[in-house]
Amino acid sequence: MILELSKSSFKQAISRAFIQCRTKTLALFEGIDEATFCRQAHPDFSPVGWHLGHIAYTESLWLLEHNAGLPCMFPQYRKLFAANGLPKCDRVKLPKPKEIRYYLDTVREKVLNYLEVADLETQEPLWRFLIQHESQHSEIITFVLELVKSQESRVKSCTDVPWHVCTESKVKSQKSRVKSQESNLVTLDSAKQVEMIQIPADEFEMGNNSADALDNERPAHCVYLDAYHIDRYPVTCGQYRTFMTAGGYENSQWWSAAGWEWLQTEKVTQPLYWRDEPAWDNHPVCGVSWYEAEAYARFVGKRLPTEAEWEKAASWDAKVNRCRIYPWGDEEPTPKYCNYDTNMGKTAAVDTYPAGQSAYGLYDTLGNVWEWTATWFDSYEGFQYYPYIGYSQVYFDHQHRVLKGGSWATRPWALRCSFRNWYHPGVRQILAGFRCVR
Ligand code: AVJ
Ligand code: FE
Repeated sequence: MILELSKSSFKQAISRAFIQCRTKTLALFEGIDEATFCRQAHPDFSPVGWHLGHIAYTESLWLLEHNAGLPCMFPQYRKLFAANGLPKCDRVKLPKPKEIRYYLDTVREKVLNYLEVADLETQEPLWRFLIQHESQHSEIITFVLELVKSQESRVKSCTDVPWHVCTESKVKSQKSRVKSQESNLVTLDSAKQVEMIQIPADEFEMGNNSADALDNERPAHCVYLDAYHIDRYPVTCGQYRTFMTAGGYENSQWWSAAGWEWLQTEKVTQPLYWRDEPAWDNHPVCGVSWYEAEAYARFVGKRLPTEAEWEKAASWDAKVNRCRIYPWGDEEPTPKYCNYDTNMGKTAAVDTYPAGQSAYGLYDTLGNVWEWTATWFDSYEGFQYYPYIGYSQVYFDHQHRVLKGGSWATRPWALRCSFRNWYHPGVRQILAGFRCVR
């Protein structure tokens, strides 16, 4: 695709991508006050303002210092904005938004100047890494802002009531409401929702060797899988409700030992972004931990897919014996194919994008919600870290589960079937749902 492009139009494409991504990132901050800018909404996440500074820091470090050979322009920010500089809780004392904006703009101007003279034959992977780096932090900013929004609406709807009391009473009213809707539950839609697709036994190609591929996607390799059935759609809120009303959160029989222990500590009774409205019944469940996904799967007599099972069902085109970059083919994402890039700012019903189906007929594999898999994040054989050991390798610790597919907030540069995300199984703030296999 890029081979035909001349060097200068290739550079133009890179600079366009950098600028487009930055526009999206900055748009997230419209109307954000300084308190929100600096607030740590959850111990696992840094304040949104920190992510912005860290984006500038990373660009500056890798392009200007390591490659252009320029001295560090903002040494005062080194400790604050380095990935391994300060614990997350110490990232709340930030420069003013205006100063961070100045940092971003100053670095970016130098970066675009450097692009004109940079040797892309050796640096192409680094530039592609950096756009995906900003893409990912930009998505995490959305995670944190969604979390803040949900915390604020919880405060509003339960003034003077401790939130756990509030959650309980909400669950009660939702249980009675569900009763009155029970007759509606068996609609054509819910019959469609339980559809599974058989994926025949055979080899497929997993991973990615292209210039876009991050270190953990490499090298592409052949994997044989026995036949399996996989859900055509992600698990919907309507389906998940049956688990909740059957006492799913109160009955240890559906939970693994680690999951039950997690539940006793966290005391949750519903997904983080639970919407108890019939209009949301066809939306994917969103805001569940890996443990909740695992418990639901056991409840319906299924299990979570391995990463390989997910990737084969999303990307393999058995007719031509090769994998597609995206489920629908190799054409870049557009809003016709999936819900991504904060275009909608929320989830969509799981059957919204027939054009986005995979060769096997799965819906909604890219965008909408990240999907938990059963697989521990680990390297493929022949792995070499790039550009630094802390990007992937330090997370090959069997403490993180792989998520696939991207959410409604994933930027197009991080959206593809081979992309691998990873989080601790107890994390719920990452716009994640799941689908099951049998
Ligand atoms: C792949 C989203 C888990 O946030 O730690 C950003 C992405 N790595 N900067 C993370 C990342 C370095 C990473 N995740
Ligand atoms: Fe980073």
